[in-house]
Amino acid sequence: MKIAIDGPAGSGKSTIAKQIANNLNITYIDTGAMYRAITLYCLNNQISEDNLEMIKNALHEINLEFINNIIFMNDLDVSLEIRSPLVTNNVSNYAKISIIREFLQEKQKMIAEEQSVIMDGRDIGTVVLKDADIKIFLTATVEERARRRLKDLSGDGYEMDINILIEEIRRRDEIDSTRLHSPLMKAEDAIEIDTSKMTIEEVVETIEDLIRRG
Ligand code: CDP
Repeated sequence: MKIAIDGPAGSGKSTIAKQIANNLNITYIDTGAMYRAITLYCLNNQISEDNLEMIKNALHEINLEFINNIIFMNDLDVSLEIRSPLVTNNVSNYAKISIIREFLQEKQKMIAEEQSVIMDGRDIGTVVLKDADIKIFLTATVEERARRRLKDLSGDGYEMDINILIEEIRRRDEIDSTRLHSPLMKAEDAIEIDTSKMTIEEVVETIEDLIRRG
């Protein structure tokens, strides 16, 4: 079984996908975490987004693995570092680079060939799992998405201003949806769910219902 979940920043993709993976006992793959890990590597090694030669070399040096939903980069748990505001504010600029996208998309397709998966991201329904059994496109108002993000961040120990978050989310959505290579877009055959006024449980139930009905 292959389930694709796409949507803009903070639409609840990862929370929802994790729960569905648990309930259905299938593997959850957070593709955003992979783009974040590559961004972290580039920032740590002072590789700018226009240095394609160094990025190409870096991709050979990076080994990404998920173990129990925790992302490891070259055997190091980077799950906390990839959520830092610095990575968040830079990730879209690295995620628009074709060689990075092709490297990760190929890896994601290979993971999905080996097992049943639920994957979340921006291009899962349109590119990575074009043949998914079900495609969901989650949305919510930018204000609601910022509120959710604020809560997540404060749980991780980062305090931020909601208005700054709204601006950052808008900026990231704009870069993600206007890039040339596999932009954030609803697949033609995806089902759109506006989660602005829904609880996590309601969204999970709606999607599981859609899966049951096939
Ligand atoms: O969780 P949040 O909505 O903040 O974003 P994420 O899923 O962690 O993804 C972080 C960034 O990675 C996005 O803003 C995109 O720039 C990029 N991304 C992508 O381009 N394609 C994907 N399949 C997943 C993420």
